[in-house]
Amino acid sequence: MTSTDFQAWTAAGQSRIEAFLQKVLPSPDIAPQRLHAAMRYAVLGAGKRVRPLLAYAAGELSQADPERVTVAGAAVEIIHAYSLVHDDLPCMDDDVLRRGKPTCHVEFDEATALLVGDALQSLSFQLLGEYTLAPDAKGQLEMVKLLGLASGSRGMAGGQAIDLAAVGKTLNVPELEFMHIHKTGALIRAAAVLGARCGAGLSEAEFASVDAYAKAVGLAFQVVDDVLDAEAPTATLGKTAGKDAEQGKPTYVSAMGIAQAKSLAGQLREEALAAITPFGARSARLAQLADFIVLRKF
Ligand code: IPE
Ligand code: IPE
Ligand code: MG
Ligand code: MG
Ligand code: MG
Repeated sequence: MTSTDFQAWTAAGQSRIEAFLQKVLPSPDIAPQRLHAAMRYAVLGAGKRVRPLLAYAAGELSQADPERVTVAGAAVEIIHAYSLVHDDLPCMDDDVLRRGKPTCHVEFDEATALLVGDALQSLSFQLLGEYTLAPDAKGQLEMVKLLGLASGSRGMAGGQAIDLAAVGKTLNVPELEFMHIHKTGALIRAAAVLGARCGAGLSEAEFASVDAYAKAVGLAFQVVDDVLDAEAPTATLGKTAGKDAEQGKPTYVSAMGIAQAKSLAGQLREEALAAITPFGARSARLAQLADFIVLRKF
């Protein structure tokens, strides 16, 4: 598959997810208008949509209906968008720029940004209750549980707690890995697994391969985020560069330097690709996404 083909596939997935998000986010004309406007501001019109793209690629492997995968991908993307709104609050990373625009609490206000997170989290689970995603009811309940675990104290929110507690401290590599696989890896892993679970076309061993791929890619994603924070310009990132060092955050860059962090990201890419070798050419999209995640510039 060519890179033009990958770009077209990516663009198609991004516009499909955007259209669905447009549809399920309440209109800013409905009360409470300001909260709805802020929710739409936080979710729509930007972001790489990596998590939904992973869901689509994994769903293609399990012969899932893309309409179902769209709901699963959107549910994860909505949690992700909420995590960004809260991550940027003054009580957390105190950031003013996100996706090339003022952060939600700067554009609106802190209380609204807090409520945006609350409401987006609820909306995500509402979607999992509203649409049929899995081949049977038991499978669908498993999906709800999976996203709950990935978002909560044993997943993203827990990772964020570790991140905040680590400010000004030095973490060793196993501690960093633990933080990163929770704060970022958990949702990425959930996106791929939920996408695959929308279809019935994989054996349990094959689901495990998708999961192992996503675990490696999820960690790689945050290692690359650490590298980009240290070396990419604000204009490319769409968020303020150099924040981690400025705020005394332990990262893979502070622990091992930029060159070694990049080489680790490359190793994790290899690990991810090794996990999907049983699929052969069928996993080409997942392979391309692993490359995209490791080679991205923003
Ligand atoms: C940024 O995520 C926050 C992390 C979990 C590292 P993304 O880099 O996926 O952000 P968007 O969605 O593309 O803006
Ligand atoms: C954020 O990690 C992970 C989340 C759960 C949002 P960062 O704090 O490094 O993300 P950015 O760099 O602000 O996007
Ligand atoms: Mg943070
Ligand atoms: Mg941050
Ligand atoms: Mg970062």
